[in-house]
Amino acid sequence: MPLAVLISGAGSNMLAIADACRSGQINARVALVIADVPTAGGIARAQALGLGTTVVDRRAFQSAGKPDRAAFENALAAAIDASGAGLVVLAGFMRVLSGNFVARYSGRMLNIHPSLLPRYKGLDTHARVLAAGDHEHGVSVHFVTADLDGGPLIAQAPVPVLPGDNLASLSARVHAREYIIYPMVIEWLTRGRLQWNLGSPTLDGKPLTAPVLLR
Ligand code: GAR
Repeated sequence: MPLAVLISGAGSNMLAIADACRSGQINARVALVIADVPTAGGIARAQALGLGTTVVDRRAFQSAGKPDRAAFENALAAAIDASGAGLVVLAGFMRVLSGNFVARYSGRMLNIHPSLLPRYKGLDTHARVLAAGDHEHGVSVHFVTADLDGGPLIAQAPVPVLPGDNLASLSARVHAREYIIYPMVIEWLTRGRLQWNLGSPTLDGKPLTAPVLLR
């Protein structure tokens, strides 16, 4: 299955997914890596692997001096669709997408979020977990719906918060789990084990009433 991988930053999850495709762990290929900012470091990393890349610079889409989200999303959808992607993989993509855009890829768009959702939706999750003094953090993979960070959960991996942790150490531990859980879920979907089922996802034919826990 051709994948479109959307990034805004370093793209380390994108690399983990590309590796999993190359090793055969995932029955898919990265058809296109798309960044919404020209400074995304993952673009050069993808190019170094010979992957197709494009930048759909959100700041280039303005109308009367204001961001034109519809025009940006039209360009994004055009790039995704031209790539032939059957699955859209948000991998550190830091733009909020409209309900219209999300509906276009309903059941065909995944996101990874650095927290045990529904805890810590939004930004700066590591800092918020540290500030709260939590002992447990983690990662979630979910289908994308118009509900920000609120689509049906597929899998989660808890990550311990250790004494003396700081942003760098905690985020490194979270990333390490991301590189395992995201390819795993993509593999389920590409092999048809995971099905969207009109918003009531199933895994191996059984309703996914709670996310699979990866310990
Ligand atoms: C990842 O930790 C991902 O979970 C997070 O951004 C990071 C991207 O790292 N995503 C979000 O916060 C989405 N709300 P990467 O560019 O190295 O893959």
